[in-house]
Amino acid sequence: MPRSPLIARSLPVLKRSVDRLRTRKANLALVPTMGALHEGHLSLVRLARRRADKVAVSIFVNPTQFAPHEDLDAYPRTWKSDLAKLTEEGVDLVWAPTAPAMYPEGFVTRVQVEGPATAGLEDRFRPHFFSGVATVVAKLFTQVRPEFAVFGEKDYQQLKVVTRMASDLDLGVRIVGAPVVRERDGLAMSSRNVYLSPDERATAPVLYRVLKDAARNIKAGDDLASVLGVGCARIAQAGFALDYLEVRHADTLAPVRSITEGPLRLLVAARIGGTRLIDNVRV
Ligand code: PAF
Repeated sequence: MPRSPLIARSLPVLKRSVDRLRTRKANLALVPTMGALHEGHLSLVRLARRRADKVAVSIFVNPTQFAPHEDLDAYPRTWKSDLAKLTEEGVDLVWAPTAPAMYPEGFVTRVQVEGPATAGLEDRFRPHFFSGVATVVAKLFTQVRPEFAVFGEKDYQQLKVVTRMASDLDLGVRIVGAPVVRERDGLAMSSRNVYLSPDERATAPVLYRVLKDAARNIKAGDDLASVLGVGCARIAQAGFALDYLEVRHADTLAPVRSITEGPLRLLVAARIGGTRLIDNVRV
């Protein structure tokens, strides 16, 4: 029977737990999450386990990365099943701070990120998002002090923002990116997929099909603008409201005009009903 992880909800308990895990020079990997854990998160945990002696997972639905009109209150919270999954995976520590433990009365500081954070992708539609992510992730890193932190490539721009921030601020943590985990029909796993109605769920894999076809056609030498035009039309026809379908430099996220400016990444965000989905593939 797997042993239940240490659970910390306050900073003093977290410090004691981390000190305990670090005996005999064990190194530590952190997987930051907002809970509602699915196979995608568990793949991050497994990657963390391969990188480090001990694995910590944080569960915190971070209010500073949600705009007032976004789904903070509705965001799925599934503590019991999250804990059961993490126990099954042999996770050593779960850091699940209360909101006041993370943002005590009087908290006013925010990390301001630029470069990949202002690439004109997610930031165009969620202007406050990366500052909220960067602030909480910087705090998580200083609280847990991990050698490694694992983030999914599904949130590709987030991965680039956090990687840049960790390097720029000398946070002493190596950021590891993990491949997108997909349902059998190609839909990228996401905690927000539970919002999809059966019809929307049936339509949702169109995004991945468009990405795959577009990546193949770009590699075959087709003109970037016309490939993206065809992709946008297919997404709209399927019933999505498209936020963006773009091909960018895979590291800097700068716009590109030709395949010779690679490595390239193709990224999409679109809304179906009330749910916003994002996805991306390597070209
Ligand atoms: O990707 C997420 O789940 C969140 O943005 C993160 C990195 C845990 C920060 O709240």
